[in-house]
Amino acid sequence: MQFAQFDVAAFLNANWQKRPLLIRNPWKEWANPLEPDELAGLACEEGVESRLITHNGGTLALERGPFAEERFDTLSKEPWTLLVQAVDHYVPDVAALIEPFRFVPDWRIDDVMVSYANDGGGVGPHFDQYDVFLIQGLGCRRWRVGPVCDAQTPLVPHDDLRLIEDFEATDDFVLEPGDILYVPPGFAHDGVALGDDCMTYSVGFRAPSRAELAEAWTAHQVDAMAEDDRYADPDLSRQPHPGEITAEALDRLHGMVLASLADRDAFARWFGHYNSLSKYSETDWRPEEQMETEEVSVMLAEGHALHRNPAHRFAFIAAGEGVLLFVDGVCRECRGETAELARDLCAGGEWSGATPGEDALVLLTALINQGSLGFEEEDL
Ligand code: SIN
Ligand code: CO
Repeated sequence: MQFAQFDVAAFLNANWQKRPLLIRNPWKEWANPLEPDELAGLACEEGVESRLITHNGGTLALERGPFAEERFDTLSKEPWTLLVQAVDHYVPDVAALIEPFRFVPDWRIDDVMVSYANDGGGVGPHFDQYDVFLIQGLGCRRWRVGPVCDAQTPLVPHDDLRLIEDFEATDDFVLEPGDILYVPPGFAHDGVALGDDCMTYSVGFRAPSRAELAEAWTAHQVDAMAEDDRYADPDLSRQPHPGEITAEALDRLHGMVLASLADRDAFARWFGHYNSLSKYSETDWRPEEQMETEEVSVMLAEGHALHRNPAHRFAFIAAGEGVLLFVDGVCRECRGETAELARDLCAGGEWSGATPGEDALVLLTALINQGSLGFEEEDL
């Protein structure tokens, strides 16, 4: 999927993380990439995260999947909406929706959630912590967008949903197939299906919270700390008041903590690993039997292409002459031809090349065996 016209520089300048934007059908040609039935099928599968929100009079109720097929036959005429997370992991045409948004780096991209609603269906007025592009796939949806919210914004008391009380919209749009609404973090929004057969694709982003980062990075460093790495004061001299914790002692204590977290190179390695971990592990591409480099070499020489597992995250960090490649939590140091290969793999798409060198072949084989790359089923 590609945009025919979209001014990325203007968008980044005026809207990204700043204010919402309605983008009227920017696609070369819009085609809804997924049938509603296929979405319902996914919501019945174990390991796929799905939710159903039903309206009962004025009240919204949440059910979590997987659902029995019959659940969809027993829905009432009242409004409802089905939401399925990470559909890009299962449907290549949905994964293709991410491509035009790669002006934002891959490590910031989360997944594509897909919703299907009948007339009046929606998740209610809420705000998210993340940027989102809401692509109208099928049917129409009215979006009301409101002011910026925060932890002080009053919410409706509800066990499962964080709905905004007294939602007052500042903008009101009707989206038709192919239209996109960009909503930055914190902005209130409420999408209501206008008519049946309303499908919306949410290309969502991630931004780690300071608390999450601090907690996870600290835990990682703590793991490697020795029991005898302790406060020491061989230079101790008698202090005027034994009850005081002196500034010198505090500087030393504080310094111990800061120094242990300050290692920038170790942080880079850790963050590459942490960010490339998969959220879901259901898309297992590991071959039944581990492949050998010779087999991989023959397959490539025969012209078979390697594909990336859409559930695995690829990223690299420049390191001297080479790169550190992170795939599904595993870090590998790559130099020369292998660094080039790592960059190519991170660029996405399929990879083919008849004669990779020995190191490149070892890397490709390792990635196949960990289930991050694979040949087409029918090629094997
Ligand atoms: C929806 O697709 O109905 C909800 C998407 C969102 O508000 O984030
Ligand atoms: Co939202």
